[in-house]
Amino acid sequence: MRILVTGGVGFIGAHFVRAACEAGHRVVVLDDLSGGEPLPLPPGATFVQGDIGDRVLLQMLCQHHHFEAVVHFAGKIQVGESVQRPELYYDVNLARSLVLLEELRQGGVRYFVFSSTAAVYGVPDRVPIPEDARQEPVNPYGATKHSFERALSAYGEAYDLRWAALRYFNAAGAQPDGTLRENHQPETHLIPLVLDAGLGLRGPLQVFGEDYPTRDGTCVRDYVHVCDLAAAHLAALTYLASGQPSLVANLGTGRGFTVREVLDAAAQVLGRPIPHTVCARRAGDPAELVAEAQRARELLGFVPRRSELHTLIEDALRPRRERAR
Ligand code: UFG
Repeated sequence: MRILVTGGVGFIGAHFVRAACEAGHRVVVLDDLSGGEPLPLPPGATFVQGDIGDRVLLQMLCQHHHFEAVVHFAGKIQVGESVQRPELYYDVNLARSLVLLEELRQGGVRYFVFSSTAAVYGVPDRVPIPEDARQEPVNPYGATKHSFERALSAYGEAYDLRWAALRYFNAAGAQPDGTLRENHQPETHLIPLVLDAGLGLRGPLQVFGEDYPTRDGTCVRDYVHVCDLAAAHLAALTYLASGQPSLVANLGTGRGFTVREVLDAAAQVLGRPIPHTVCARRAGDPAELVAEAQRARELLGFVPRRSELHTLIEDALRPRRERAR
């Protein structure tokens, strides 16, 4: 398949591009390089530096490459920043993403796979969270992702376009060969911060709150390996291309771990305790987010293969350890 991948040098995007090229797809990456250090692309992928809201560029790319599918990873991803600077999130995650959607539809794209998030649910009534749970995002990040899902749905009704919105829970891990790594700028995600604290690459981890109503007082999250996410995107493309209807699916394991459990697992993997301090809650953190993961399993054959917590931490550690040497 000829695929346009936005955000293809970012963390999840680059893992998908690797998997897509290995599966024999023809991939063009569109990325504005705003997400920090770009990850390396395989030789088969074509790189274009540019903006997802640049209509002229998108028209040229469609005319030249005749894409059948787009996988849209590009976007702003920090919940806290989205509260402080909502304009960035409405601009990139909604306004520019709508330009992308419209230009690609006009350019003949048939399948649209979208990076969505557990943040569309807001504070869930119950966990694990099924896809049809109430969606009341509690920050502009989740709100813009939710709005774009609605736009996809409307486009799917009106036009010959089928789509999949994949709602990730906590993406983590890295390519097991150590060549790709989580590379956000700034890094706000738990597992890379825990490992860098353990490796002495930064100060102690700050545990954001230990007074949540969970088994040890720290927040519970559903960590899913980035290679499992990449495989699910390929499966979604195959699913859509086989004539199946559009789809919303959670991507998680169905199993949650507390921040303390992550610290303990990382300490076991590293063979030393992880320096940490306990501080106040971070605004906007729900106590527990765990996916009801059945739909992806049934429809996409999604079976997490590397998402067991120790495996995921070992994979995340490998490229970070290289940097610590
Ligand atoms: N945490 C800490 N200290 C840190 C960083 C994180 O204690 O330095 C805690 C957080 O409070 C949270 C857990 O570790 O309880 C995981 O935090 P992350 O920042 O790694 O991930 P989030 O759960 O906040 O974010 C994820 C996705 C987002 C999504 C969000 C929904 O990455 O895309 O869930 O709330 F929007």
